[in-house]
Amino acid sequence: MTTSTIQPTEKMYRLGTESAFDVLAKAEALARSGKPIINLGIGQPDFKTPPHIVEAAIQALRDGHHGYTPAPGIPELREAVAEDIANRRGVNVDPNRIVIVPGGKVTMFFAILMFGDPGTEILYPNPGFPIYESLINFTGAKAVPVPLLEEKDFSFDADSVLASITPNTRLLIINSPANPTGGAIPKSEIDKLVAGLAAHPHVAILSDEIYDRMTYDGREHVSLLNYPEIQDRLILLNGWSKTYAMTGWRMGYGVWPEGLAEMATRLAINCHSCVNAATQYAGIAALKGPQDSVEEMTAAFNARRKVIVEGLNSLPGVTCRTPGGAFYAFPNITGTGMTSQQFQDRVLEEAGVATISGTSFGSYGEGYVRFSYANSVENIEAALEKVRKLLAG
Ligand SMILES: Cc1ncc(COP(=O)(O)O)c(C=O)c1O
Repeated sequence: MTTSTIQPTEKMYRLGTESAFDVLAKAEALARSGKPIINLGIGQPDFKTPPHIVEAAIQALRDGHHGYTPAPGIPELREAVAEDIANRRGVNVDPNRIVIVPGGKVTMFFAILMFGDPGTEILYPNPGFPIYESLINFTGAKAVPVPLLEEKDFSFDADSVLASITPNTRLLIINSPANPTGGAIPKSEIDKLVAGLAAHPHVAILSDEIYDRMTYDGREHVSLLNYPEIQDRLILLNGWSKTYAMTGWRMGYGVWPEGLAEMATRLAINCHSCVNAATQYAGIAALKGPQDSVEEMTAAFNARRKVIVEGLNSLPGVTCRTPGGAFYAFPNITGTGMTSQQFQDRVLEEAGVATISGTSFGSYGEGYVRFSYANSVENIEAALEKVRKLLAG
């Protein structure tokens, strides 16, 4: 056998990752070795997909939906998404602008590929979902962080976002409610941002609204779909993963400006052809069926949010803002004297609690740790006690 001299391209070495998957693997290895682990690292609902959605997929398989579907999704599903948007946002979107893809991530992947090139700049939230920065670096574009600060409850400052735009800026990514901070951007700040964007017509916007159904304390989700003045440059990312506890089904959607929907479809044809057919039927059942499970899940998250925020604030050296949405708390742990990574490692190895270091979400995450409260109140309380013992230690 000759020694291989294969050469993956340079950009492959710039691709980052989502360390939540590494923590999950480490937590599972510790659990297998007999150490009890409570997982507050995971970013997915701890609920099962509602039965009527599962049944719709089984029925679709029985009905013989075994082949390829149109690349952007079956028409009934695209229409169901448009109907859902009309019902919830009061906005009419042409189903031809909707592209169904295998997970929320895929819309992000396509949008960043479409706008990222060496010499261009992309603004992204930091701390934020790690895939944004990873993909921007992959394309060779310059990743320009929009810092999300604790003192602003992890919302952004529209004026500083607008001040970061240059003639080379191609794309602005926003995510509200946000991973990992749970921050929700108030309407006043979005109004200001959209008004300011009028002076920058060369900037496309990717609005990741995957947690739109998970907001608390009477907060209304502010969707960028409700700003007609930016519809010709808005890419809206949403999906089924979080809302309907369907992370493993792999399905999401993008609402694209006219013209870009065809480009997204072309990327889909080059990549995955179409989403699994039976899953698409499940997606119709999710949107058109009863929504009680969404409300029940959000109510459960809300109850746990109170438990975790109160518990974290009672730990020595830890302070925690009250998150406005999603299912994450992002406490400040600087008072413990540990770095975020040390906190993550020690809490996992010594207390048996999986969390994710804030630095996994970007450089502005130093000093913070993400706790997911997609776990039972009982487990959250037990985890907090274990961390308390460690910190008292
Ligand atoms: C902000 C954000 N966007 C997108 C996604 C991706 O969702 P999906 O599992 O549907 O690809 C996630 C998942 O954690 C997320 O937190």
